[in-house]
Amino acid sequence: MQYRIQHSYYRDFGMYEQNKRAPRAYFIPYSSEAALREVPDARQRYESGWVTVLSGAWDFHYYADAAQLPRELDTEQVDFDEIQVPSTWQRAGYEPPVYLNVRYEFEDCPPALPEKLSVGLYRKRFTLEQAENRNTLVAFLGVIPCVDLYCNGYHVGYSEGAHNTAEFDLSGVAREGENELVAVVHKWSTGTFLECQDMFRENGIFRDVLLYTLPRAFLNDFWLRPLKNPDGDYRLQCTVEVQGEFAGWGVELTVDGLDVKYTGPAKERLTFALDKLIVEEWSAENPRLYTAWLKLQKNGEAPQIVKIPVGFKSVEITGNVFAFNGKAIKIKGVNHHDTNPVTGFCMTYEDYERDLRLMKSLNVNAIRTSHYPPDPHLLMLADQLGFYVIDEADIETHGCGEAPHGDIDLISNDKRWIPRYLDRVKRMLFRDRSHACVTMWSLGNEAGGWHCQDACCAFLHAVHPEIPVHYEGACRTPVFGYDVYSEMYTRHDVAESIGQGDVDAAEKFDRPFFLCEYAHAMGNGPGALEEYWNLFYQYENLMGGCIWEWADHAVYHADGPYRYTYGGDHGERIHDGNFCVDGLVYPDRTPHTGALAMKNVYRPVRAKWEDGRLIFTNTNRFANAACTLTWELLRNGIAILNGEAALDIPALERFELPLDLPALESGDYALNLQYGDIAFEQIILQEQYIAEEIPASADISEIMQTLKLNFLRAWIDNDNWRNWVQEDYAPQNLIVKDDGVYAGDEKQFSMELITEEQPGGAYQITARLTPAEDLLEGLQIPRFGVTLELPHDWENLRYYGLGERENLPDFKAQAKLGVFETTVDATHEPYVFPQDNGNHGETRWLELTGGDGHGLRIFNAPGKLSFSAHHYSQAALEAAKHQEDLSHDGPVYLSVDGFVRGSGTSSCGPDALEQYQIDLSKGLEFEFMIAGV
Ligand code: GAL
Ligand code: MG
Repeated sequence: MQYRIQHSYYRDFGMYEQNKRAPRAYFIPYSSEAALREVPDARQRYESGWVTVLSGAWDFHYYADAAQLPRELDTEQVDFDEIQVPSTWQRAGYEPPVYLNVRYEFEDCPPALPEKLSVGLYRKRFTLEQAENRNTLVAFLGVIPCVDLYCNGYHVGYSEGAHNTAEFDLSGVAREGENELVAVVHKWSTGTFLECQDMFRENGIFRDVLLYTLPRAFLNDFWLRPLKNPDGDYRLQCTVEVQGEFAGWGVELTVDGLDVKYTGPAKERLTFALDKLIVEEWSAENPRLYTAWLKLQKNGEAPQIVKIPVGFKSVEITGNVFAFNGKAIKIKGVNHHDTNPVTGFCMTYEDYERDLRLMKSLNVNAIRTSHYPPDPHLLMLADQLGFYVIDEADIETHGCGEAPHGDIDLISNDKRWIPRYLDRVKRMLFRDRSHACVTMWSLGNEAGGWHCQDACCAFLHAVHPEIPVHYEGACRTPVFGYDVYSEMYTRHDVAESIGQGDVDAAEKFDRPFFLCEYAHAMGNGPGALEEYWNLFYQYENLMGGCIWEWADHAVYHADGPYRYTYGGDHGERIHDGNFCVDGLVYPDRTPHTGALAMKNVYRPVRAKWEDGRLIFTNTNRFANAACTLTWELLRNGIAILNGEAALDIPALERFELPLDLPALESGDYALNLQYGDIAFEQIILQEQYIAEEIPASADISEIMQTLKLNFLRAWIDNDNWRNWVQEDYAPQNLIVKDDGVYAGDEKQFSMELITEEQPGGAYQITARLTPAEDLLEGLQIPRFGVTLELPHDWENLRYYGLGERENLPDFKAQAKLGVFETTVDATHEPYVFPQDNGNHGETRWLELTGGDGHGLRIFNAPGKLSFSAHHYSQAALEAAKHQEDLSHDGPVYLSVDGFVRGSGTSSCGPDALEQYQIDLSKGLEFEFMIAGV
């Protein structure tokens, strides 16, 4: 078939849409109510009679240079490959993936684009049984960055806005029998300037394509809008749009379980309400959905039915408190990007379901859809499973802040862009506004501003005032914030001053404070999560926040030297390295330690021990905390008593459970509380150091020769603070000389290692660090301890300390004190970017032994220790760029530390809190014993 090819993407600045249909809800009309009753809501699309999913195998031709795409195109002459839709060209192998955080891929200034750019030509043939008396529409749920659509020889339309639905009318062009659909996707468009998100920058038709073949009269759109009446009951306002030849047709709305019904004549646009509804409200904790049925009917027949899940909710900001259904809620959130190690940012329903169920099991109650509207499936699942969603518009102009532009406000303060901003915000709003889960609208991310955002906010306020508007970028403008005041990566002390109202600008305190991003979860960490939550619970205006971010982005390789690759591994001209592997879960969704820390910090139940009673608080706002509590009393790490109790604590209430425990003797006592599968908690009842008797030791004099002092670690991502300090006294630049450790020419501290052999062959070890008199203020080290090299097969590990998951002083909600038995291998945490890991703090003793039972024991450490054991040295871990770079053949490297610095989140956020840094000014000293066993 012949086509005259347009290059709309480039035509002129005015072009961002052409013949695009007005945005509407994503929904599927049905012809059979019986079938609908059987189908879970999120799968509706696979069952409908009116819609065909055009995803699957498409013809594809890739042109490295758009100039090669013939202006007069004859699809018969094209040598097509086959590609799966949805997909991206990069993951399909046509271009290498490129990971970029802040910058654009090119240096041209908006709206100019590089002269040379690649283009993808897609073709799909489909058959229509009937085209006459039909409305044929096609919806692209996601094409990045733009699409020129053609059908049967005609240009149908053009759209930009990658994560927004682009819908076109094919009526009059599509015909009975075979049809040809051609989509031309250029690598960049002016829309690209608004899509500078921190992710792999890929291209293609990356979400489903739906073909609607609707009757002459059809339901085009609806809005089910629950509004709370002053008396606490609800009215369900409904707007319906009917298109086509609908004279004589009627509209009906009913809701299962509610004795109400609306019927009226069909109109192009019709608004009515079902009122005085006494309902159970929807919340993330109790996601009660009602099923509404919207019908278009004539003569008692209803050829078109839409099944709509409805949640009744109210969002209200009263003063500086964010209330949901009248209660101040806390956002226990994560930032969710679409990412899959195999398919890039193409996510299936199953991918989303796995993510959201896992989040639920980790006590997450909120999702910010960073940084664009997700596939509608995410919202359907969030309605059903219960998540507060901050739905974000597909707008980020971060690269404007970089060379050569150097002005983050460049686009957002240029009013010529307002229509494009509004287009994206409208398409988000109209698609998603009926969802129960939508709790805030977000105007985008890191786009400077504020002129274009002001226009978008005004629009949302006018059309949908009951849902608050968030945009973090406003905090650096005179606007400060829209309905909430938002920041990212705020330090604890600053968050606290905002909680207290001790702020430089009234705008920071006169509305709720939302941390749209906090606790950068990259690698080993994040630290000080619990400390944030102490603040969030304490101050009503602090509404919580969303951890950055849910999952590591990486490229999976079934074969090849590396299983996962990140920025720079694909020959990128410019890239941002491993900054994309910064999630709470690995690319395959195995939780990092950080996810487990979050699970415990986000737990709804919290306990205290007071006068022989456990006092529980349920921090939920709506739902009871109901679970079986199993408790265990530990003496010196060993359970000596246990029991069970059923908990069923109403929201925000306390519950007291007396426990008759035996009188405590000497030693450590801890109470372990397991709340079903919700979380665990440990309460330390007594800590008391008891020196062990020194055993007769096997000969370990070889091993003792490997004993060395150490103050470095294989840098964790969150050790970025080391780059913030003055070069000379960055720990990696400290110079070790015989008489001490130097920053530049100045001696900073000296270190001493004292080894005293005891009768029986054990050794008493003392490590000491003495600061020089003029120690530089602010000099920091990540640890102070010793290292030992042990035989390769000393693989069996037993310890009494914090486990069983790795931990650091400010990162330990996932761990508890106990006696654990494991192996060296099992303590290794395989972060995509290798770094120090597997530390276990508050250790009282540990043993490493080989198959024959020989090994060593470390004990009698009055100050407690932290340790880690690996088959890799710290230097090897530091040098490795991927897990596969680590060789497993070496000895067991044991680190035994008296002092360890916390994690903090300085990979993007604040450094470890002061109490988790190592204070060198008064000197450091620790001791322990080591014996052969
Ligand atoms: C934020 C940004 C995120 C991500 C993060 C770093 O500033 O909003 O998109 O880039 O930093 O991982
Ligand atoms: Mg950014």
